[in-house]
Amino acid sequence: MHQIKGIPDDISFAGASKKHNLGVRFKNKFYLERLAQNWDANIHDFGVTVVREKVVETGIVLNKLKQISHPNLLKIIDMCLCTVVIEYVDGIHLSTKKGEWILGPFSNTIDYVDLCNEEDLFSVIRKLGQVLLVLHENGICHTDPTDHNVMISNLSGEPILIDLIGAMPYTKELELLDNVVFLNHLVIPLAARKGIQLPDSIVRPKLNNSIIERLVTYLGETIGR
Ligand SMILES: Nc1ncnc2c1ncn2[C@@H]1O[C@H](COP(=O)(O)OP(=O)(O)OP(=O)(O)O)[C@@H](O)[C@H]1O
Ligand SMILES: [Mg+2]
Repeated sequence: MHQIKGIPDDISFAGASKKHNLGVRFKNKFYLERLAQNWDANIHDFGVTVVREKVVETGIVLNKLKQISHPNLLKIIDMCLCTVVIEYVDGIHLSTKKGEWILGPFSNTIDYVDLCNEEDLFSVIRKLGQVLLVLHENGICHTDPTDHNVMISNLSGEPILIDLIGAMPYTKELELLDNVVFLNHLVIPLAARKGIQLPDSIVRPKLNNSIIERLVTYLGETIGR
């Protein structure tokens, strides 16, 4: 990437936890630092340790992601040793009701949930559930499918799952983590913000590892009604 020439169209926030928390945009390409933080079970919400250095360094997951084309998944365009080039999403965040330490200048700005109705939200959640299942089928776990890692594209109107640099190879434990994070950090808080009552079978599941599948089925039936 050292050969990049020209003046960028924009330099903007690219993640509070990065060493270089600004990304560089040239038209619809966004250049980010190739880095993702480890998690320590002692301080992680769900008590899971995730060590990412080797995976990010070898590019084993990033290279797989590069091959996947899906309307609800951020496109990975290219990478070098220090930088990842991704599709720039011109749009708004699904949810910004978080502190500045997560969302920098976007913290508490207007978000999609402020603007959408119940049916829109169900449709977004269903699409995100489906794309997580596609990742799992492809041997990848996102590990952090929270509401602030989703943007809604102005161009396509689609929800796009972002924050893929730290994605990990599939394991049962990380699949379970995706299920539990998706439910507790996206589905439940966003439904609550819209005053939506979800059935107990979804909110208090007996089997944590099939949360996403059951949600996708439930929302398919609900939206289709
Ligand atoms: N493809 C993109 N298009 C537009 N903006 C983006 C894109 N990727 C990231 N951003 C911006 O950067 C922010 C942080 O991105 P991301 O979630 O990938 O970083 P992060 O390393 O997880 O940071 P943190 O750990 O603080 O969440 C997003 O909330 C968004 O504002
Ligand atoms: Mg993030």
